[in-house]
Amino acid sequence: MSNAGLKAGGVHKDFPSGEVTLNVLRGIDLAVEAGESVSIVGSSGAGKSTLLHVLGTLDVPTAGSVTLGGTDMFSLDDTARSAVRNKRLGFVFQFHYLLAEFSAVENASMPLRIMGVEPDEADRKATEMLIELGLGERLHHRPAQLSGGEQQRVAVARALVHEPDFVLADEPTGNLDSENSRMVAGILFGAIKRRKAGFLLVTHDESMAEQAEKSYLLKEGRLFPY
Ligand SMILES: Nc1ncnc2c1ncn2[C@@H]1O[C@H](COP(=O)(O)OP(=O)(O)O)[C@@H](O)[C@H]1O
Ligand SMILES: [Mg+2]
Repeated sequence: MSNAGLKAGGVHKDFPSGEVTLNVLRGIDLAVEAGESVSIVGSSGAGKSTLLHVLGTLDVPTAGSVTLGGTDMFSLDDTARSAVRNKRLGFVFQFHYLLAEFSAVENASMPLRIMGVEPDEADRKATEMLIELGLGERLHHRPAQLSGGEQQRVAVARALVHEPDFVLADEPTGNLDSENSRMVAGILFGAIKRRKAGFLLVTHDESMAEQAEKSYLLKEGRLFPY
């Protein structure tokens, strides 16, 4: 076990819901080591998205810790935590969340622009990334001019363009037909592997989940080897 991983220790997440409290995560210990791929499956409502949001430091655990490269992420203030997150993590969600008025290149370059990279340099890297993902003929198209699979490939480019240490994906093929699901899954695993980034995938798509080196089942707030 190295110190370089993305790790959850004793993570609980509760959501107050009227009179009762939903205990969605009930003691999660998980390590995604550098360069390793880990998938988490579970039925709808099991808490997969909640777990990904907490590990991605987009949401705060009720108890427990999240460490990235040995840094206790929730001991940082919001600004410092966002800076580490923007630099070291990349996200892919079920919906692409591309900005409608921007081209594929501009969308894919956004993480670099946010980090302060010069627009020309950001666009150059985004262009390379899009070409690698097979979108060389779609660089200046806007999201509405792209198919669902192409939109999601732009979202993958955006998640990888800043060479994050870890990519976190929440149902990245959940909005695609089976052919596009297979293609986007292959592209995502391939591009992450080439960069030797770590990968945390949460999905109910078992055929995608089984491409990861390790798999867990999230059930009743806990993880089980799968
Ligand atoms: N922000 C929230 N406030 C209240 N309840 C939530 C919130 N987010 C998720 N939940 C509840 O937590 C449970 C797990 O949700 P989620 O993590 O989205 O599951 P999954 O991604 O496995 O389908 C569900 O019962 C859901 O309604
Ligand atoms: Mg979900």
